[in-house]
Amino acid sequence: MSRKILVTSALPYANGSIHLGHMLEHIQTDIWVRFMKMRYPAQEGHQIYSVCADDTHGAPIMLRAEKEGITPEQLIDRVWQEHFDDFAAFHVNYDNYGSTNSNETKECAQDIYRKLKEAGLIEVRSIEQFYDPVKNMFLPDRFIKGECPKCHAKDQYGDNCEVCGAAYAPTDLIEPFSAVSGAKPELRNSDHYFFKLSDPRCQAFLRQWTKSDTLQPEASNKMQEWLGAEGESKLTDWDISRDAPYFGFEIPGTDGKKFFYVWLDAPVGYMGSFKQLCEKQTPPQPSLTPPLPPCQGGENQGRERTAPPLIRGGWEGFAPLNFDEYWKPDSNTELYHFIGKDILYFHALFWPAMLQHAGYRTPTKLFAHGFLTVNGEKMSKSRGTFITAKSYVDHIKNTEYLRYYYAAKLNGTMEDIDLSLEDFVAKVNSDLVGKYINIASRTAGFVSKKFGGVIATHNQISESRGAHLIGKFIGSETLIAEAYENRDFGKAIREIMRLADSANEYVNDQAPWVLAKQGGQEEKLREVCSVSLNLFRMLTLYLKPILPKLAEQVEAFLNIAPLAWSDIDQILDGKINDYAHLMTRLDPKLIEAMVAANQESLTPSPSPGGRGVTTQSEQRHAAHQQNEVKKEMTETGKASESFISIDDFMKVDLRVARIVNAEHVEGAEKLLKLTLDIGEAQPRTVFAGIKSAYDPEQLKGRMTVMVANLAPRKMKFGMSEGMVLAASGNEPGLFILSPDDGAQPGMRIK
Ligand code: MSP
Ligand code: ZN
Repeated sequence: MSRKILVTSALPYANGSIHLGHMLEHIQTDIWVRFMKMRYPAQEGHQIYSVCADDTHGAPIMLRAEKEGITPEQLIDRVWQEHFDDFAAFHVNYDNYGSTNSNETKECAQDIYRKLKEAGLIEVRSIEQFYDPVKNMFLPDRFIKGECPKCHAKDQYGDNCEVCGAAYAPTDLIEPFSAVSGAKPELRNSDHYFFKLSDPRCQAFLRQWTKSDTLQPEASNKMQEWLGAEGESKLTDWDISRDAPYFGFEIPGTDGKKFFYVWLDAPVGYMGSFKQLCEKQTPPQPSLTPPLPPCQGGENQGRERTAPPLIRGGWEGFAPLNFDEYWKPDSNTELYHFIGKDILYFHALFWPAMLQHAGYRTPTKLFAHGFLTVNGEKMSKSRGTFITAKSYVDHIKNTEYLRYYYAAKLNGTMEDIDLSLEDFVAKVNSDLVGKYINIASRTAGFVSKKFGGVIATHNQISESRGAHLIGKFIGSETLIAEAYENRDFGKAIREIMRLADSANEYVNDQAPWVLAKQGGQEEKLREVCSVSLNLFRMLTLYLKPILPKLAEQVEAFLNIAPLAWSDIDQILDGKINDYAHLMTRLDPKLIEAMVAANQESLTPSPSPGGRGVTTQSEQRHAAHQQNEVKKEMTETGKASESFISIDDFMKVDLRVARIVNAEHVEGAEKLLKLTLDIGEAQPRTVFAGIKSAYDPEQLKGRMTVMVANLAPRKMKFGMSEGMVLAASGNEPGLFILSPDDGAQPGMRIK
């Protein structure tokens, strides 16, 4: 059966540069789409398309343009070009890369809105909000600053405090001021439009939608949490309007006064961008100049060998892409969204509910991925690990190194992915150069020099160990294809590198360089080198979704047509070209220079509303989680990204501690009371926010690590004389530390 598939990546904000975190998503999508196009080719009746676009609306973009003295349209045009160039440099190849600020997106957004309204799912309510009387505009939370109501730190944002992590409403701030004009904001009423997510129809639909196989298990768990238990209605209505002035689409029938909130039209941008693609793919009126033949776009254009026979005019027999076919409710096309875990909420709740109740199809699956860390930590400007796509290209140039590394790490789950820069260099050099390229570089020269480039035919290698190896390589096709399709690229690469290892063993054992020196071994030499080059060809085919550019170079070198997935069992025949260097080792000095350059361009603080190092929703989420524990603690501490000296570090007295006793604290939701032996006459008492993760009974007798010189603090439940250390990340879970066996209570950690 032929498959019709539309794939999207989340639309990057037109408010900042593409960085290596974004690239993780776009590379993941691109590898998947390239694989799917290879495996399900257009020539066999399949249609695989991918679209993306810039997400261009919202107050931050409007204000930034104003600051730069240009129109928002000028700003988003400039950023569009930058984003487009970044993706091209990484060989990320969408069939259409659009903008949400397009007629197509506008039409779809207004259509969806009208249908939701007809369905009785839009409600207007007056809400009270901060207004800037100087700028004459309502202020988004991020544009209101003031003193934190909890810890009294000055100059904190309207949604959470960066010093103590408290989350609050802007109206809780002490002495609030507008970050745009500095004026004291006033509370004013305004009518807002809400999408009634709390409506029983939405709840019922989302419950059923979640149960279908649309989400990864982790995402499905999150959904259950958001939806609450059966019968419980945890969803609240969603505010989809913003007051003028706002850069966005006008809400129909509001006289230019109300605009769609950016997150309403953002996912509609998927439809808008696809609509543009449909328009591009529609045959023009008959004209004298024959148009280009239809194709799947991008680098797959014009595959000579298997392209359908060209009828004069090029379009006859071609079914144009049909928008409705992909978006109608009972569509048998497939729709996949690649997204980061931070925007799951929007894609798993609002988006399907909007589509469903406006009479469109809903996504087949959401593919959520985790966040990128660099060297085990959040990307950081001061450490030089907040790396833009542009600076990677400027310093390293070869973007396929990163494609390979990301692929090796991606497994289709929502786990975070670490780019360890040292490991990156090691892996690229050992796998790509040391294993894969090495097969060709050690054997091609002999074929060129000794046999004029003519390689052994199928019959000439059928009886050898080589033939067996070729069979083994073909035999891995299903496993590799399945791994790719399941987005477990790491698994595909492990299998491919296992094959590369066996190819290298073969080359080592046969030692063509020895055969070349012996007399009368010409045929054997040619056979060994030909087998090696056949294996190399097959590895190239398997790696092609990840390394499209390199694959093209190899195709030119081997003198073959662009490799299709079904070519796996073919055998090279004829003449190859001279081997020219295919890939050089990655020099760690380039990485050092890149990190240094990113450190130099250190900016003091992210602009208000700017993405900074983390996303706003991520910050808010993290702040909220932290706050839950901190409510019961009084401690505060500023997270700083700058370096500390060893002396600073040594000020912290870390000790091995034995948990003598652990118990629940009456009335405390998050805390356990721990009694810790650190080799002193009296054990210490510490209240630790680890109740959600540990049963006190399990902890008794365990060794852990504590900060012993933290000033004692009086807490609601008694005095706390230190702190135990625990690890946590974006995923749920909390993990206290343990020293290795043999460590004794009281030992210093340094
Ligand atoms: N504009 C919204 C998405 C709208 S989709 C209808 C947005 N933009 S974004 O630029 O902030 O992020 C775009 C995508 O990049 C999101 O899927 C986000 O998860 C992903 N990433 C941004 N930073 C990331 C990392 N550090 N690591 C991995 N992915 C990251 O959200
Ligand atoms: Zn605070």
